[in-house]
Amino acid sequence: MSEHPLPATSQVMIDFTQMKSFGCDPLIIERGKGIRLWDVFGKEYIDGVSGVFTANLGHGLDSLVDVAAEQGRKISFSPPTMATNPAALALADLLVRITPEQYSTVKFYSGGSEATENAFKLARQYHLQRGNARKTKIIGRYLAYHGGTGHSMAAGGHAEWKWRYEPLNTGFIHVTPPARPGCSACQRLGGCTLACVDAIEEAILREGPQTIAAVIAEPVMMSAGVHVPPPGYFARLRELCDQYDVLLIHDEVITGFACGSTEKPPSSPARPPASAQEPPRSSPNSARTSCWSTATMRGWNRSPPPSAASARGSKPAPGMSP
Ligand SMILES: Cc1ncc(COP(=O)(O)O)c(C=O)c1O
Repeated sequence: MSEHPLPATSQVMIDFTQMKSFGCDPLIIERGKGIRLWDVFGKEYIDGVSGVFTANLGHGLDSLVDVAAEQGRKISFSPPTMATNPAALALADLLVRITPEQYSTVKFYSGGSEATENAFKLARQYHLQRGNARKTKIIGRYLAYHGGTGHSMAAGGHAEWKWRYEPLNTGFIHVTPPARPGCSACQRLGGCTLACVDAIEEAILREGPQTIAAVIAEPVMMSAGVHVPPPGYFARLRELCDQYDVLLIHDEVITGFACGSTEKPPSSPARPPASAQEPPRSSPNSARTSCWSTATMRGWNRSPPPSAASARGSKPAPGMSP
């Protein structure tokens, strides 16, 4: 039980919650250890969603608390606009080593919405600097969730979560998701034909491939129940994106890097650390828990299509920055 008098909950706002009813039976978590949480009344809970997928190693882990305290003693804030720091460099090195070859650069953000917002910015800038200024539209999927800020909310596909804030930003198109059961095409055709990927191609063609910057997709949809895509979904989507010069943004904010998109294939060994003297700091598995707030893009390092390549050389224009 807390030693302090309880603050009034009417002074805070909780996401997606009606505050009046919350105030009648508030959930005020005081501490956690491992998978367990305790509220201020001493009631114990199992944290089945790991603090919304952010405390995957459990709560109150001394080794993590010690690292955070040690870092805090070194510096309170590292200005991201003009500097980096050894911890960020070490983490970037680790992430580059455990992900496939095409991922060579890491940009850190402080949350999932910020990561997806910036994935859209980078996608648009990428096409702009390759001479495709009209490639600005983003294709998202109904039922998806990519965050609560302007563009990330516009990319999401939950009408019920968005309508209070509409009209949202333009340039976001939605298609049917691989949500099973429930895909109307699956029901009509009596089985999966990957019609949900065909819907993406249809959207690309109807909007005009020259206007589409990226498709954003979670490897596993979690915001409307857990929806694992049918076999072949991402392989086919990858092909489509390559065919129409569209970037594929994997929103791995919830799944981490382990669910089928940016995980390094088992056969390919981890790359050596950037610094030869520096020993690997951690196994790939333990690193995945650090990846929860990232959105990753495939196709970023691909060569431009032949027309663009001949005009500008085979690499994206230099100086690309968020
Ligand atoms: C798939 C996905 N993307 C993005 C976000 C937004 O992350 P954040 O709440 O850290 O802004 C979430 C949050 O749950 C999410 O589930």
